Amino acid sequence: MSRYRLMMLGPPGAGKGTQAKRLADRLDIPHVSTGDMLREARRKESELGKKAAQFMEAGKLVPDEVVIGIVRERLEEDDAADGFILDGFPRTRPQAEALAEMGVDLDFVINIEVADEEVVSRLGGRLSCPNCGAVYHKEAKPPKEDDVCDVCGHRGLITRDDDRPEAIRQRLDSYHQKTSPLIEFYSERDVLENVDGAGSPDEVNDAIARRLNGD
Ligand code: AP5
Repeated sequence: MSRYRLMMLGPPGAGKGTQAKRLADRLDIPHVSTGDMLREARRKESELGKKAAQFMEAGKLVPDEVVIGIVRERLEEDDAADGFILDGFPRTRPQAEALAEMGVDLDFVINIEVADEEVVSRLGGRLSCPNCGAVYHKEAKPPKEDDVCDVCGHRGLITRDDDRPEAIRQRLDSYHQKTSPLIEFYSERDVLENVDGAGSPDEVNDAIARRLNGD
């Protein structure tokens, strides 16, 4: 199977992580999520984690130079040599320019379109596993056993600290001001594929597969 350099674009809660995990499994390419990397750094209380914490809790973007540095290092690892799926990066124009300067030519940017009201409802109901990062939703995708992760068996699913209503509002503001201009940036480069994110996770997954197949 040919390898892809993909990126997921879309507002917070659009389902980027949900779809990126499925695609990474199907295409056998690594899922490179800056949100997951930053949360892991916070969990380990590394210097990076301490630097990022205050921004993330408030729903603000972490400074460009910090995020660009971790992505550059991650993409230099062997498993990313033949393809990857970027989730949550780039999120600003300077990040998109830095990615291009790293010599990365994206094959597709999958832009998942979801209305702000749906974002609020999805993030308000999200549950995350603090052990393995698996993501659930109280109504749309509950775990099989209450409060237990289907993937790793960890008991005690959590609500992310940036899924509080004030932080969700701030994240939506950051998206509209700083990230949504990338829709035009990648459209001009002819790699943008818009996908309606309003359906079920399976329906969105099918729509993405059709776009990658050129249907
Ligand atoms: P990050 O973790 O990237 O957060 P985000 O972009 O806000 O995205 P989310 O993880 O909230 O949502 P998602 O689109 O992945 O949706 P999900 O699949 O989980 O970043 C967090 C923070 O880190 C940022 O705020 C910032 O501070 C920092 N950061 C990260 N990258 C950065 C960068 N490049 N530059 C600067 N700062 C950066 O789904 C959401 C919910 O909906 C789940 O409950 C899920 O089960 C449910 N769901 C998914 N699909 C569907 C569906 N089709 N129908 C119904 N429910 C669904």
